[in-house]
Amino acid sequence: MSKRSVPATNDFCPQTLFLYGTYKEDNTPNFGLFCWFSYYWDTELGVMMCIGEDKLTRDRIRQNRIFSANLVTEQMLPLADYLGNTSGYDEGKMDFELETEEGSVLHVPTLAHSPVVFELEVAQSFRTGEGEVFLCKVRNVLMEEGLIDAKKSVEERIRGIAPIHTTCSTYFSWDGRSLGGWGSPKEAFKPVGKTS
Ligand SMILES: Cc1cc2nc3c(=O)[nH]c(=O)nc-3n(C[C@H](O)[C@H](O)[C@H](O)COP(=O)(O)O)c2cc1C
Repeated sequence: MSKRSVPATNDFCPQTLFLYGTYKEDNTPNFGLFCWFSYYWDTELGVMMCIGEDKLTRDRIRQNRIFSANLVTEQMLPLADYLGNTSGYDEGKMDFELETEEGSVLHVPTLAHSPVVFELEVAQSFRTGEGEVFLCKVRNVLMEEGLIDAKKSVEERIRGIAPIHTTCSTYFSWDGRSLGGWGSPKEAFKPVGKTS
């Protein structure tokens, strides 16, 4: 295979997307979109993730040391793209109807429509210039019941939820179709205003 050196990049290395849920100071939920998320092992499974630069999610995680990570599926993509392209510092980011539930173990907001949700507590963090790396304990995993049904093959179960993967600033369906560049699916997001 003939290869060439290119500037540092993770292009063509697909990543999974998660919406991180935190409570704001007024105890209402905020969600942001993140892909620098992976796993490590000490005596148990842990999550490692990185947040670059100032953003509301990072402020809230620094403050409370807990958050949820909600797997993003194809059905959730317009919402996820909106939440990843709208700053939590913008007043009104979360002013729409969104079905959230309290975590089962931690006081974190979770998304009712995400099929896999981690409830995470920060164990260690360190700053890397503008960024910050977090090592997190998995306090709970909430999984849609259909995913636990071992009568179905893994292929059938994962096809059923259709997680998004992303690379080259482009979203891809589970079966490999392009779903548009970052910032484009949000055009299909039609928020319904809060009634109360
Ligand atoms: C596809 C995608 C993936 C992203 N992944 C990350 C990430 O891993 N780390 C990060 O710091 N920001 C990431 N962002 C940017 C945040 O989602 C964005 O800054 C968002 O506005 C943060 O919301 P908040 O201010 O409510 O926390 C990503 C954005 C997109 C569109």
